[in-house]
Amino acid sequence: MVLADAFGRVATDLRISLTDRCNLRCTYCMPVEGLDWLPRADVLTDEEILRLVTIGVARLGITTVRLTGGEPLLRKNLELLVADIAALSPAPEIALTTNGIGLAARAEKLAAAGLKRINISLDTLDPGTFTELAHRPRLPDVLAGVAAAREAGLNPVKINSVLLRGVNDHEAFDLLRWAMAEQVQLRFIEQMPLDPQHGWQRDGMITAAEIKQNLSQHVELVEDPEDALTRGSAPAELFRVVGTGYSVGIIAAVSKPFCGTCDRVRLTADGQIRNCLFARTESDLRTPLRSGASDSEIAALWVAAVANKQPGHGINDPSFLQPDRPMSAIGG
Ligand code: 5AD
Ligand code: SF4
Repeated sequence: MVLADAFGRVATDLRISLTDRCNLRCTYCMPVEGLDWLPRADVLTDEEILRLVTIGVARLGITTVRLTGGEPLLRKNLELLVADIAALSPAPEIALTTNGIGLAARAEKLAAAGLKRINISLDTLDPGTFTELAHRPRLPDVLAGVAAAREAGLNPVKINSVLLRGVNDHEAFDLLRWAMAEQVQLRFIEQMPLDPQHGWQRDGMITAAEIKQNLSQHVELVEDPEDALTRGSAPAELFRVVGTGYSVGIIAAVSKPFCGTCDRVRLTADGQIRNCLFARTESDLRTPLRSGASDSEIAALWVAAVANKQPGHGINDPSFLQPDRPMSAIGG
């Protein structure tokens, strides 16, 4: 069995939100006071997650597992979970999306456990702007995490940046220069309507075109010729910085959707399958999991959940409605 939908796409990339909690409060993601966290009893245990991943890998063609949050490093036994997932057969590729806080002390253990790839979120290099944006003065922790990830041999280290108008949009080139020097892969992401305040506005969003234009005042960018051939389902469009071997990624999630090649399926921390970031319905796997369903019963529910996937996110339709769950409760 595979996780196919009615539009010919097959989901092979499982993204698991390990917790909806976070130790930062980035304005586009979480109110300063936090959110109503999921009740502990609803959050899947490591054993339950491993059972679902095993079903996904052994029966449903999942080949990549990305661990996200909230902030996944808040999960106590993350290293053990990574090791358990890495030991499955066939072994999936394991990736992590993190804000980097606490990573300095754990990157090496995570790599040893079988983590292959890492995405670290970093929107600014200015300590004051960081504190304004994330409401916690933790820039040094993130930078230490980036360095540790590289030293642990996680390759590539990808950096996700969201630019906000009037907050950090003047830093696009600073981030690029820094990423080139640090030898990490920078990718700018258009801000999507997934904020808990439901305050996203199209005119407020810094578009991919703006980012390109902004960077082009400092460096010459050309489309990366190899990228067009090898991009597949990767959302970032790569631009080569002329005169260097470096390519910068821009993810035009809103202005140039890539839903047609989407290969993702999501599992929330409380055991719901979401077939899209913007899905308006979810499929409950936690209840059957906890009431004795067999592997094949769970697999069948999962297949049905993905079969219903819509062709795209519809952000650009007048009838678009933002999902109830914010990004922090879905996972990146
Ligand atoms: N739009 C785009 N990216 C977002 N992220 C969080 N919220 C949004 C949003 N509304 C990013 C974070 C992190 C990753 C999980 O997703 O910056 O890098
Ligand atoms: Fe996939 Fe939904 Fe994202 Fe489109 S919006 S790429 S369908 S998860």
